[in-house]
Amino acid sequence: MTSDPLPTRRQALATAAAFTPALATAQGAATPPAAPAAAPGPTPFEIKPLPFDPTKLPGFSERLLRSHWENNYSGAVRALNNVRARLVALRADKDTPPYLYGNLKREELIRRGSMVLHELYFANLGGSGRPGGALAEALRNSFGSAEAWEDDFRQTAASLYGGSGWTVLAWNQHTRELHNYWAADHSQSAVMGRPLLVLDLYEHAYHIDFGAAAARYVDAFFANVHWDEVQRRLESARKA
Ligand SMILES: [Fe+2]
Repeated sequence: MTSDPLPTRRQALATAAAFTPALATAQGAATPPAAPAAAPGPTPFEIKPLPFDPTKLPGFSERLLRSHWENNYSGAVRALNNVRARLVALRADKDTPPYLYGNLKREELIRRGSMVLHELYFANLGGSGRPGGALAEALRNSFGSAEAWEDDFRQTAASLYGGSGWTVLAWNQHTRELHNYWAADHSQSAVMGRPLLVLDLYEHAYHIDFGAAAARYVDAFFANVHWDEVQRRLESARKA
C-alpha cells in the first residue's frame, strides 16, 4: 500500500514561501508578497489491475467484474486522489472554514475505505477449495468449526441483502481472535480488525449477473475464494 505522504500545514506553507523571495527580488521590495501557494499535491494512489483473469471466474461474467473494477473500485481511487489534492490546497489557505475541511476529511475516509476494501476483495478471489491448515485451525478455535464460521459469515452477509455494505472475516489484534464483522459502508471498519476475507455486498458487486438473488452471488463468491491469500493475511496479522 502506498504510504500517506500528505505534508503538514507548516510544510505546505514553507514550500510556498520558498518560491516567494526570488519573485520579490525580481520585482523590487515594493511588490506585495504573493499569497501562499498550495503545496505540491500528494503522490496519487495507483489503480491496481485485477489480480485474476476476469474471463475465468466460474459463476461471474467478465462484464460484471470489469464493471465493478472500473466504475466502483477505480472510481474510488480517482475520487480519493482528487480529495487528497484538494485537502492540501485547503490546508494552505488560512481562510478555509472548518466545516469545508471536515466534509472533505469525511470523503477521504469513505473513499480510502472503498479503495482498500475493494483491493482486498478482488485479491481474495481467483481460487477454489476450502480453508485448510492454520486458517482452518484458527476458525475452529474462534467459531467451533469451519462450518460454524461459514454459517455466521453467510448470515451476516444475508443481513445486507438488498442494501449495501461489507462482510469481513477479520483478525482482531486486541482480542487475538477471528470474528465476522458487518459494515454498512466503506468507513465502518472494526476497531483493531485486520481484514482476512472481504465480501462486497453492494448491489453493484452482483446485480448484473444475479439480479436480486444475492444468495446465489454469495455461493459464487465462496466457490472462488483464494484461500491461500486469506491464510497469508492471517499469518501477517498474527505477526503484527
Ligand atoms: Fe464494490
